[in-house]
Amino acid sequence: EPPPAPAETASAPASAPAPAPAKVYTVGTDAAYAPFEFQNEKGEIVGLSVDLLNAVAEKGGFQVKFVNTPWEGIFNALGQGDRDLLISSITITDERKQTMDFSDPYFDAFQLIAVKESSKISKFDDLKKLKVGVQTGTTGDEVVTKLQGKTATTIKRFESTPLALKELEAGGVDAVVADNGVVIHYVANNPGAKFKTVSDKAFAPEQYGIAVKKGNTELLGMINKGLAAVKADGTYAAIYKKTFGT
Ligand code: ARG
Repeated sequence: EPPPAPAETASAPASAPAPAPAKVYTVGTDAAYAPFEFQNEKGEIVGLSVDLLNAVAEKGGFQVKFVNTPWEGIFNALGQGDRDLLISSITITDERKQTMDFSDPYFDAFQLIAVKESSKISKFDDLKKLKVGVQTGTTGDEVVTKLQGKTATTIKRFESTPLALKELEAGGVDAVVADNGVVIHYVANNPGAKFKTVSDKAFAPEQYGIAVKKGNTELLGMINKGLAAVKADGTYAAIYKKTFGT
């Protein structure tokens, strides 16, 4: 008769290794950019970018956790590995492509000028000598810096786009140049500010992409796979409609 099996093997050993917890990717976003990324009354980060990335992650087979990250430090946070990816209405530019990798584009945008309703400004060139508010380090900052020159003292740079728009309301600047979606949303939701928008064909088309650390092809592959799936199955269109109503 064989000896009884040792107790340890009779039942699952207490030390059985637990399955490795799935990695949760940390997402940086500057949540002061409605309707793309902003905080609701409960302080939760919401908006098109959140809905989109959650859907992309589900289809791409990965998990994400959003962390509010000031725009000024957002690219460093990615480079240093404090964030695994960024979704923050980031325009894909050749310069940024030197230091990070971008997903396929997910949104078309362009610069738009916000001015007071009474303003005579009718085109971008009118801003050459005027006081213009921008969010530091954005493509809006880039175009205004190009127009006025690097040493111009009439460019007023702000930590966030809403702060620049508040300054326009207060009369501290003559115009704000920022992404169309954010300007239109602000003007529509702040009728008391008495703003209007001025568009100009001089602005180049821009596209938003999700950024990962340079060389992170594994994560980028999952993102692009998920993005293609949400574009193809109608999820993207539903999120767009939820955000913009059309
Ligand atoms: N699209 C512009 C850029 O890439 C502005 C983005 C600002 N995004 C934000 N969440 N503040 O420069």
